[in-house]
Amino acid sequence: MTDWQELDKKYVMHTVNRVPITLVRGSGARVWDEKGREYLDFVAGWAVNSLGHCHPAVVDAVTRQVQTLIQVSGQFHNIPQIKLAQLLVENSCLDQAFICNSGAEANEGAIKLARRYGHLKLGGAYEVITARNSFHGRTLMTTAATGQEKFHKPYTPIPPGFVHVPFNDVDAIKAATTGTTCAVMLEPVQGEGGVNIPDDDYLARVRDWCDEKGLLLILDEVQTGIGRLGRLFGYQEYGVEPDIITLAKGLGGGIPIGAFLAKQHACVFAPGEHNSTFGGNPVTSAAAHAVASFIIENDIPANVRRTGAYLLDGLKALRQEHAAITDVRGKGLLVAIEFADDIGQAMLDACLERGLLVNRLKPNALRFMPPLTIGPAEVDEAIAITRAALAAVSSAP
Ligand SMILES: Cc1ncc(COP(=O)(O)O)c(C=O)c1O
Repeated sequence: MTDWQELDKKYVMHTVNRVPITLVRGSGARVWDEKGREYLDFVAGWAVNSLGHCHPAVVDAVTRQVQTLIQVSGQFHNIPQIKLAQLLVENSCLDQAFICNSGAEANEGAIKLARRYGHLKLGGAYEVITARNSFHGRTLMTTAATGQEKFHKPYTPIPPGFVHVPFNDVDAIKAATTGTTCAVMLEPVQGEGGVNIPDDDYLARVRDWCDEKGLLLILDEVQTGIGRLGRLFGYQEYGVEPDIITLAKGLGGGIPIGAFLAKQHACVFAPGEHNSTFGGNPVTSAAAHAVASFIIENDIPANVRRTGAYLLDGLKALRQEHAAITDVRGKGLLVAIEFADDIGQAMLDACLERGLLVNRLKPNALRFMPPLTIGPAEVDEAIAITRAALAAVSSAP
């Protein structure tokens, strides 16, 4: 039998510490490894497989499109891209979309758009205020936007143009605003940085400040968008309208795609000022259109609210049983549990052994981000495994 993990070590750059299983197949919320072992998947490709694995809506859309037209350049009109942009615009508060390939590329584009806006309308302002513990991507510019020192360190000097302030602190944004500020960029709920949920009125107060100062409000909805928080877009949960949002992850249901959308006044790119060879590719656009249509037509956000609350309640009940759990927090199907000690890796391993895939968020925390289509039976199973894993890890010498 081929030792894929050995070949991986030899040929693939080691940029992530991998879990020692090789996944070969998926269906719904389940995946199978090369040995035929089944797992309940609460990682979902890092909050990507919004409809689960190999959902017929995605498979059909991709199959039809690869038999029709696979790639055209931005030089030509292409119908799947137009349909996707129309769907996103008609279901959001934004007016136009740019389709790209990933979350980092979407954020990179949004930052460029904000700078262009600064050049044209704010006397050359270029600085973007972002939050500590944010995560905006792995390109150099989105690394600079990310408010976590550990991501900057290996790549200094980091490009200038960002100021990092504490999350959920409007006064800090006010204090950091200067004549060179063009935008504030935030995740509605911080994902990678800890599943950090702001006060209910935080974004509305940031919106007011941006209005007062003429700044753009950019919401990075790469992780929170397309249903994850129990609304189609996270901003709807907080009753604000951003000037720009970015999307990726769940948008394609597993097919790589990103997008940024802007209100009319912020659509300031002129032809030639931004583009992407694969952006708006017919196949990925058709997939994303199928995913977003399915989510909208079947009111998947309602399932996320229901099932997310059930998951949160189940984990909170577990917390009552175990002093080892110090916090349970989340919104929709983006949920974290935190432990008193650094048992995140041991818990991940113990869950894996029992057939549940979870994400280690921090040394002392796990993140649950299953497909948006799961139901209570899968939640029950995940909680039972987490309970058993916790018993095993707690009793380990
Ligand atoms: C909020 C947020 N923004 C941006 C990104 C980067 O997205 P990608 O990995 O698709 O470039 C991520 C990825 O985790 C994210 O969570």
